[in-house]
Amino acid sequence: MNERILDSFTKDALEAARANNTYRSMRLMETPESSCVKIRMPDGASQEQILLASNSYLDLANIDELKQAMAQAVLEWGTGSGGARLTTGNKTPHQELEEFIAKFKGEESAITFNTGYMANVGTISALCGKNDFIFSDELNHASIIDGIRLSRAKCFVYKHNDMADLQRVIQEAEKSRAESALPAPRKLIVTDAVFSMDGDLANLPELLRIAKETDCLLMIDEAHATGVLGKTGRGLAEHYGCAHADVTVGTLSKAVAAEGGFVAGPKQLTEFLKNKSRSFIFTTAMAPAVAAAACNNLRYIDAHPERVQNLRDNVKFFCEALQREGVNVEQSPSAIVPIVIGDEAKAMQISAKLQEQGILIPAIRYPTVAKGQARLRASLMATHTREQLQTAASIIAQSVKEGA
Ligand SMILES: Cc1ncc(COP(=O)(O)O)c(C=O)c1O
Repeated sequence: MNERILDSFTKDALEAARANNTYRSMRLMETPESSCVKIRMPDGASQEQILLASNSYLDLANIDELKQAMAQAVLEWGTGSGGARLTTGNKTPHQELEEFIAKFKGEESAITFNTGYMANVGTISALCGKNDFIFSDELNHASIIDGIRLSRAKCFVYKHNDMADLQRVIQEAEKSRAESALPAPRKLIVTDAVFSMDGDLANLPELLRIAKETDCLLMIDEAHATGVLGKTGRGLAEHYGCAHADVTVGTLSKAVAAEGGFVAGPKQLTEFLKNKSRSFIFTTAMAPAVAAAACNNLRYIDAHPERVQNLRDNVKFFCEALQREGVNVEQSPSAIVPIVIGDEAKAMQISAKLQEQGILIPAIRYPTVAKGQARLRASLMATHTREQLQTAASIIAQSVKEGA
């Protein structure tokens, strides 16, 4: 081991992260994901926490009926898929899952990836190449940004959720291309449906209008929208009661509480991705039991729309409780409630203090959010009780007022 060489790659970055309070380390959870968990505290003891930090918004990860269904799928299908989807990995549960996703999302077809990250990266880089234009919201998720980088398309970033700025950017991009000798570009608009660190929503009706008027393809990432938005959790289009985007990406790892990502849309799109998306082609298929679990969990969401309603009611109750306690938050349209603190060190201290008091809300810092925008990112579950939420709101308010 050549320590000097390793230092030259890693030491400065680690020291800088420590110095500016952005050093990351993992917390150990000793119980399954649910609204109440046990974690290992810095002194080695176990402590119970109200979990206000999970993406498992409907709290499906630890339901007996769903765990048993997954265990049964393991017994039937084994532990792994054994091959890529295009070689030997494509098993009945993968196909059933894709058929069910298409039905659930009201689309002609769906294709699954091993993660939502891989779905975004593989879709954008397959659709776009270096002569194309991509218009991207400034707060889009890292997996969208990485997909854009991989595509080598020219990226134009528009101000967060600012539709006038999007139109301005499209016009400027078109003008610059018209003045060059290059061929007319293909154009893609891409946005999160629910912004993961702010919890606000993309304006789908306006995006559809602009995409149509400017001949752009529209792609939305419903990672935090599936199972959350709309009366039955079908996502952003159901929330607005409008048409779907051309390309809908989603994940099976958040409200669906399994693992994987998907793209839903016309069959021509999913056939294209099967042929051209490198993160679909060059990887082993997800374990069939995981595909079966994702499908069972989605069926459960379909059969239990009241769970989606419970989540919405909890978000409303929690935001109102925080507001009553004097915390500056807006009513969130999703399951994510950001409590912006600003200073990185202060956000870390408040989060640590909350943890000591049995409330788990991580501080989110640069580079996940902009510098000076550090926040507590609370996310709610359908199963939090009113008592848990009121207790949490009071303790959070107290800690924010005290600055720690
Ligand atoms: C908006 C968004 N898109 C995509 C992803 C990636 O999904 P996955 O965790 O399934 O890789 C995430 C979070 O992880 C996300 O927040």
